[in-house]
Amino acid sequence: MRIVVLVSGTGSNLQSVLDAIDAGDLDIDIAAVGADRPDTYGVERAAAAGYETFVVNFRDYTVRADWNRALTEKVASYSPDVVLSSGFMRIVDEHFINTFAGRYINTHPALLPSFPGAHGVRDALAYGVKVSGCTVHIADAGVDTGPILAQAAVEVLDGDTEESLHERIKVQERRLLIETLRQLSTAGIPSIPQR
Ligand code: GRF
Repeated sequence: MRIVVLVSGTGSNLQSVLDAIDAGDLDIDIAAVGADRPDTYGVERAAAAGYETFVVNFRDYTVRADWNRALTEKVASYSPDVVLSSGFMRIVDEHFINTFAGRYINTHPALLPSFPGAHGVRDALAYGVKVSGCTVHIADAGVDTGPILAQAAVEVLDGDTEESLHERIKVQERRLLIETLRQLSTAGIPSIPQR
């Protein structure tokens, strides 16, 4: 299975995928790692590990649809079976979604459909939930919507901050992500009816 990974930040989840590949625990081929802005640690990590990288800088485009088109073309040029959003913090449009329909996978640090959006951990904590977690799902054109592939629950502890909770969630998120990629690479992408 050939994948392109999109990141916007530190790429610690990406690193766990790279480590799993190195350890022989995950048999997938990362065609490239790309970002929506320059100087992300995620791209730096991938380059240091010898993977091909690219940036389609959101700020280079005045029209959002043009950025979407450029990103879609760049990702498509690697002919991926799966595109993974691993902390990619931009909403992509229908052109991108339709090009990679059913094969654009996202991870989210909350139990969807609760607490979608850029601040899932903070919002769950502010709501006062006792259990949160993470979700790996097939992304559609909405914000953190689309068929769910896997979820894990994480208990919220007294005194948790956004950072402490997110770190515990990420431990589960990495495990779930690797497990899901392993399953997709062996069994293919399940066809889950859209809700
Ligand atoms: C993950 O929790 C992801 O779900 C969220 O941002 C985090 C990415 O962290 N959208 P990293 O860049 O992999 O360290």
